[in-house]
Amino acid sequence: MAEKFIIEPSGPLSGSLEIGGAKNAVLPVLAATMLTGDVCALQNVPTLSDVESMSGLMETLGAKTKWDKQSGILEICTSDIHSHEAAYELVAKLRASFLVMGPLLARFGRAKVPLPGGCAIGSRPVDLHLKGFAALGAEVDNSHGCVTVSAKKLKGAKIYLDFPSVGATENIMMAASLAEGQTILENCAVEPEIVDLANFLNAAGGKIRGAGTDTIKIDGVRAMKATQHSIIPDRIEAGTFMIAAALTRGDVMLTNIMADHVKPVTAKLKEAHIIVDELETGIRVRHDSANEIIAADLKTLPYPGFPTDMQAQFMALMATASGTSIITETVFENRFMQVGELKRMGAEIKIESRSAIVEGVDILTGTQVAASDLRAGAALVLAALRAEGSTEITGIHHIDRGYDRLDEQLNKLGAKIKREQHEV
Ligand code: EPZ
Repeated sequence: MAEKFIIEPSGPLSGSLEIGGAKNAVLPVLAATMLTGDVCALQNVPTLSDVESMSGLMETLGAKTKWDKQSGILEICTSDIHSHEAAYELVAKLRASFLVMGPLLARFGRAKVPLPGGCAIGSRPVDLHLKGFAALGAEVDNSHGCVTVSAKKLKGAKIYLDFPSVGATENIMMAASLAEGQTILENCAVEPEIVDLANFLNAAGGKIRGAGTDTIKIDGVRAMKATQHSIIPDRIEAGTFMIAAALTRGDVMLTNIMADHVKPVTAKLKEAHIIVDELETGIRVRHDSANEIIAADLKTLPYPGFPTDMQAQFMALMATASGTSIITETVFENRFMQVGELKRMGAEIKIESRSAIVEGVDILTGTQVAASDLRAGAALVLAALRAEGSTEITGIHHIDRGYDRLDEQLNKLGAKIKREQHEV
């Protein structure tokens, strides 16, 4: 049965929230547990449907999982992996399933994974992943909508990524962990989730240096072992709540947050006249009653630039800021899916090629809208908090993929969100 949110205007949010584990860190780390062939314990695992999907996929390969959602501890045993083929319907549901390819290739010498199709935000090719596997000596067959990779033994290589792709960096780093010799990965992604994965791999006996810089050196090892690892906080969940506080003109304290990881969002909010204090205990975001929120231009970039995963949420903030903001999306080719629905709520937005021109308006009005993807859905929730009248948001399964009970979390801060069954 599908569900929907019914959201009433919330007034200024206030209170304190603890940030949960990062979706985009736990997904690659889960895949990486297959390199150890043992039992790994992951802490601070968020309750997300994407995590359900990834652990479900790994169970079809033979992994055994025990997930205590109360404590956030997920134990996974990968000693009995018996299949190296991921099922189409599972990969179609979760593109990040493609991250099982590197570990399967490294540990078993083969993997077959359907090409993840495009999604709402873009075509999402995996050519850089495949280039990396081939450079490590794998046979790569990409036909009939499936990728099959095989290798007797992977050999270290020097690989330059045409684009600092997060997924390609992760997949190649995992494959190279058990290769013979050294791999040097250049122009790689530097996101905090890359560092978290490298920390997990090193704790499991890997030899990885330079994660977090644009050159990573991986010295292959013969085998990896069981380990335990705590997932870093989710910087995108944190950024989403920071914008919720700003947009409702509230005063919110966020704890269990790594201030460095949200620096680009903090800087941009300050530019828009929001007060952001980095304290010992966390980050406090509050409205400056002496200064209205003003428009600020934005360009999304790979880390440490402003994250593409925060673009839609920032647009919701600019929709009721004073002035005109130009928002340019440089990472994905179709990531303005929230625009149409924000305009139906009264926002003044015009798309010109890869930029959206947002003319701030005084009020947005509630209506029926549909979430098209994870972050566009989050942006609609944020806009609804401030809109006049009630807003109904359908398609919230997109939101549950990447936010752990977003409605309950926002309601703790004073939002008025009801989750209801929805007749499709
Ligand atoms: C990761 O996706 C994240 N997902 C995305 O978060 C995030 O938006 C993205 O990184 C960028 O930060 C996970 O970590 C599970 P990319 P990924 O490879 O790895 C092109 C969310 O909302 N590209 O860095 O797929 C690609 O088309 C999600 O939480 C190639 O051309 O991102 C895109 O334009 C959405 N060839 C750009 O690189 C390749 O082989 C960035 O993609 C790979 C990527």
